[in-house]
Amino acid sequence: MNTVLELISEKLKSAFTACGYEEKYGTAAVSNRPDLCQYQCNGALAAAKQYHKAPIAIAGEIAEKLAGDGFFSKVEAVNPGFLNLNISNKALAEYLNQMAKSENLGFEPANTGKTAIVDYGGANVAKPLHVGHLRPAIIGESVKRLLDFDGYKTIGDAHLGDWGTPIGLIFTEMQVRFPDLVYWDENYTGEYPKDCPVSLKELEEIYPFASAKSKEDEEYRAKARQAVFELQNGRRGYMALWKKIMEISKADLKRNYDNLNVHFELWYGESDADPYIVPMIEDLKKKGIAKISEGALVVDVKEESDNKEMPPCMLLKSDGAVGYDSTDLATIVQRQKDFSPSKIIYVVDKRQGLHFEQVFRAARKAGIVGDDTELFFLGNGTMNGKDGKPFKTRDGGVMRLEFLVRDISDKVLEKMADRDMEEEEAQEISRMVGLAALKYGDLSNQATKDYIFDIDRFTSFEGNTGPYILYTMVRIKSILEKLASAEGTSIDKIRNDVTFGNFKMGRTAREYGASEVDLMLSLTGFSESIHKAADECAPHKICAFVYDLADKFNSFYHDNKIVTQEDVNVRNEWVCLIVDVLTALEICMDLLAIKVPDRM
Ligand code: ARG
Repeated sequence: MNTVLELISEKLKSAFTACGYEEKYGTAAVSNRPDLCQYQCNGALAAAKQYHKAPIAIAGEIAEKLAGDGFFSKVEAVNPGFLNLNISNKALAEYLNQMAKSENLGFEPANTGKTAIVDYGGANVAKPLHVGHLRPAIIGESVKRLLDFDGYKTIGDAHLGDWGTPIGLIFTEMQVRFPDLVYWDENYTGEYPKDCPVSLKELEEIYPFASAKSKEDEEYRAKARQAVFELQNGRRGYMALWKKIMEISKADLKRNYDNLNVHFELWYGESDADPYIVPMIEDLKKKGIAKISEGALVVDVKEESDNKEMPPCMLLKSDGAVGYDSTDLATIVQRQKDFSPSKIIYVVDKRQGLHFEQVFRAARKAGIVGDDTELFFLGNGTMNGKDGKPFKTRDGGVMRLEFLVRDISDKVLEKMADRDMEEEEAQEISRMVGLAALKYGDLSNQATKDYIFDIDRFTSFEGNTGPYILYTMVRIKSILEKLASAEGTSIDKIRNDVTFGNFKMGRTAREYGASEVDLMLSLTGFSESIHKAADECAPHKICAFVYDLADKFNSFYHDNKIVTQEDVNVRNEWVCLIVDVLTALEICMDLLAIKVPDRM
């Protein structure tokens, strides 16, 4: 289904051509002066230069051409050469009827048949999920859903950090604390124990301890490096222990991501790229792209136009170990082989931008990806505390994600305290609303920007917040519930009838109230907003749409008594309208991976 903007642009284009101008001038935009008009076209101003005419004269000709078109209720040429446009109630009603009848309110996926991989986990094994991994998880899940809705076959990969320094540190510390474990014995050939020798809790203590120690102790650090090296070279006992640690750690990470409503199709880790590294390096050597520099094996990725430092992409460090560059490069080899995606999107902290630039350049230079694969780094900004620094616990430590979710849910529960609800239900709903507050607070900001985590603002039931949107949706459901019970039917039946055109009547072009028109117009922007958000990997554009729609609904609700409206035709039209508004909100909240309660 064409968007309203496309329909208007089509009409403008024919008018421009009919008047002897190039059609490119006929593009419409949503008005930035809604007090004056709904849509506008500034083409006459641009055309004036080419045709050496006064812009207002051109605008006047176009306005005259479109004057008889019933699609518009107003076409006005105003100084210095703008075209101000309103669409007629008839066109608006017809458009919305068409939307209502179409699957997904007329949204048409634009990218069917293509595959996109979204790399957005990045949690590190044996470390609890902390707030640093919150943004990639939340943004990545939404980006994946957007692309999926837009037709892509999507694959989300957790890409766990399971292979590098942290594991080496843990091994080194475990060797100190538990010297008798069979895993250290190189002569051991028997079976290894079934259970992991340490609990998750112990691991969570061991890792930061070892990490701190390594910063002061050179010998300890060297041991950790050696452990990584031996693990990567397949030392039997190390592999066995590593697998055990992976098992318990992955299970915990899964539980945590699940709780966030974040789900991965692949639970690969950096280690899964390992088998691809040696052949990849051989290939790069053969192609003459890999070269020795200061004892390390690197790919030079500098380009002439660079105006910043661009260190080479590191294939092998001088001690022969593989690092972050080579795993990411080999992961691309693996992804090309398994999925030949047309897009790989990395949702990772923006401070890793240089690393990805190096890897992407090396991948292109080496021909690992061709022109038909887009590599896209969506570097996310940081969630900061009120002091403007990365968010910390009160005592300055790294905040665990589950504690953050608990805090925000508690805050919501406080606000809900006086509602009549069983304790258990209140708990469940506050969790849902709390999570919505957190996710929406995050997603409504442009992904690349930093933002301040403000628990009071995020949990507010007013303004551009998750709870406000949920509250609006619950309100619509409750109106429909009332109408359904008055008519002895169910909300599902009403929604179904509206969706499949069996409802008592469609929309007609009567006189609408101002807030009613605003709501209808906002709803028409549905497909356009999703397309933009998907094209630009920008969930905040969904939030902007959702907030506008919710806001317009609430004004409409404020102005009209829907349930008690006596004119049954008008009432029925309103039912159709709010059912579609609810559907649009539901689809969008699902694209944001935010769950919606039935009441709150
Ligand atoms: N584990 C990494 C970290 O915590 C993030 C991984 C991001 N994804 C990637 N393909 N490098 O910093």
